[in-house]
Amino acid sequence: MKLLVVVLAAVSLCASEDIPQVPGDNSHYVEGVSRYIWMPDGEGAQHLVDLHEPVDESVLDERNGALNEYWLFTRRNSNNRQLIRHGDVNTIRNSNYNGGRPLMVIVHGWNNNGHSGLNALIRDAYLAVADANVIVVDWRNHANSPYNTAVRAVPSVGQHLGDFVGWLLSNGGGNWNNVHLVGFSLGAHVVGNAGRRGGGRASRITGLDPAGPQWGRNNNALRGSDGQYVEAIHTDGGYLGIMDPIGNANFYPNGGRNRQPGCSNSACSHGRANYLFASSIRTNHFNGRRCNNLSQAQNNQCTGANLRMGNSILNKRGSGLYGLRTGSNWPF
Ligand SMILES: *[C@@H]1O[C@H](CO)[C@@H](O)[C@H](O)[C@H]1NC(C)=O
Repeated sequence: MKLLVVVLAAVSLCASEDIPQVPGDNSHYVEGVSRYIWMPDGEGAQHLVDLHEPVDESVLDERNGALNEYWLFTRRNSNNRQLIRHGDVNTIRNSNYNGGRPLMVIVHGWNNNGHSGLNALIRDAYLAVADANVIVVDWRNHANSPYNTAVRAVPSVGQHLGDFVGWLLSNGGGNWNNVHLVGFSLGAHVVGNAGRRGGGRASRITGLDPAGPQWGRNNNALRGSDGQYVEAIHTDGGYLGIMDPIGNANFYPNGGRNRQPGCSNSACSHGRANYLFASSIRTNHFNGRRCNNLSQAQNNQCTGANLRMGNSILNKRGSGLYGLRTGSNWPF
């Protein structure tokens, strides 16, 4: 009897521990097993997400991505967006879009929007080093849905983005060899679907800590064939990010997981990918070393061939797993 009480107490303790009490601390989380995970929004506030929550079908249909907005920034309007409307050629003609220049597209993640800090962080870094077109995608209508619903919207949001880029290139000039698609978290899977829609012709795709929950063995996840070269930068693998090497080249700075240097929780480690990428655009100083396998990457034991992490070089190519150490604050 006494033993039974002890066993029951232990079982109920485990059950209550399934709901984490400390915001942002995902140390309880086991990929594919845990039901709850803390996720930050674009302002850094923490939300407890129930991964068993039913998808809200009422906000989904095949035209999900039709609600995307495309905001153009160039050196001539580095702070003031120009709205480009898919199908309305005048919005291209009346904008600063220049088809002779590179195009970078930036896509935010869950509970973010086009105003979230990562967009300006990456946009400003790129415009500082390149006279280019930057399109910030705002897909807040679905990104602000419950997580499982936002996950379901990702393919359509990405397909509409892919169609938009094709239309922009046809009507405003330019070609896929000058296109770099960049997405953070759920946005990484959005740009994967956009690249696939474009026939895998985008010169570069960068996935910034591609989202992990619901994306393991998911056919809609970012993958190497989505572009000519697909790079993933993993900073919170196994928690908010995916640990699997899903790109052609996969970087695991500081082991690719929580806690990144200077971070105290998984949310910070997740967002670190954006800062590392922005910094790499400006100074291209992160020297990855090739790893023989994932366990080497996770343990910072990689000593093979060099490949720079991130940067803005459009025709960058490479493959494999890479590890490196970074500093704990800007420029890391
Ligand atoms: C990873 O590679 C290292 C170095 O080649 C080797 O010692 C280790 O056993 C490998 N680990 C796994 C899990 O394969």
